[in-house]
Amino acid sequence: MVKWRIFFGAAMAALTMAAGGAIASPAAAASVDPTPSVVGGTRAAQGEFPFMVRLSMGCGGALYSPTLVLTAAHCVSRTGTNTSITATAGVVDLNSTSKITRKSNYVYRAPGYNGAGKDWALIRLASPITGLATLPIATTTAYDSGTFTISGWGAASEGGSQQRYLLKATVPFVSDATCNSSAMYGGEIIATDEICAGYTSGGVDTCQGDSGGPMFRRDAANAWIQVGIVSWGDGCARPNKPGVYTQVSYFASAIRSAATSLGG
Ligand code: ARG
Repeated sequence: MVKWRIFFGAAMAALTMAAGGAIASPAAAASVDPTPSVVGGTRAAQGEFPFMVRLSMGCGGALYSPTLVLTAAHCVSRTGTNTSITATAGVVDLNSTSKITRKSNYVYRAPGYNGAGKDWALIRLASPITGLATLPIATTTAYDSGTFTISGWGAASEGGSQQRYLLKATVPFVSDATCNSSAMYGGEIIATDEICAGYTSGGVDTCQGDSGGPMFRRDAANAWIQVGIVSWGDGCARPNKPGVYTQVSYFASAIRSAATSLGG
């Protein structure tokens, strides 16, 4: 089975360099969009998800605060000074001249991360991004069910190319019991750390390059709240293989204290 986690960052960097940084073609993504990214999705409108961030190693992220991007641990190498990551925000079109870009100056990877669970990290930006709404994280399990929105510039299909335009889709919650059943992941899910989402029949999912991006829903006040971080899956959008996301509520206090230690 293919988990697509461990070597993804390096593979993506190579791919991006080989492609000269180009991401898909505008014509291919226009109008009908037969193979949208976030497999089975549609185009997000400019400004619809203002907190969405694209990271230069080929991952997604969400603005946790004006200076911090919440992403996946498997998207970064280690905790420490890191000035090599570029974060792009404020646009659905990565080629837009209105995009906001910032360099990183520090990475905080979840303590104890070893490729199993704990798949979260914070990237600190060298200067704040102002004027864009941030995405609050779920601090209780109250929103860890229902219908979730997923979004990213990752592959449109298993093995497909990265996208120029941000895409979105919705996927239903899948319980740990179902996700860990022999029909699905057969015990591979770390129930405390991970939350699954997708259709039994497949067809809609995050995919390579969406990693680190948020999975979110509306809270009781109708505001967006982050419940997941794109982590892994067996292929993309396969039947009986839901997407697996970091369960943000479980790590909320650790994320919050790390954010505080990074200066907000
Ligand atoms: N690890 C992948 C990445 O780096 C994300 C895979 C998500 N897969 C899925 N079937 N939901 O982009």
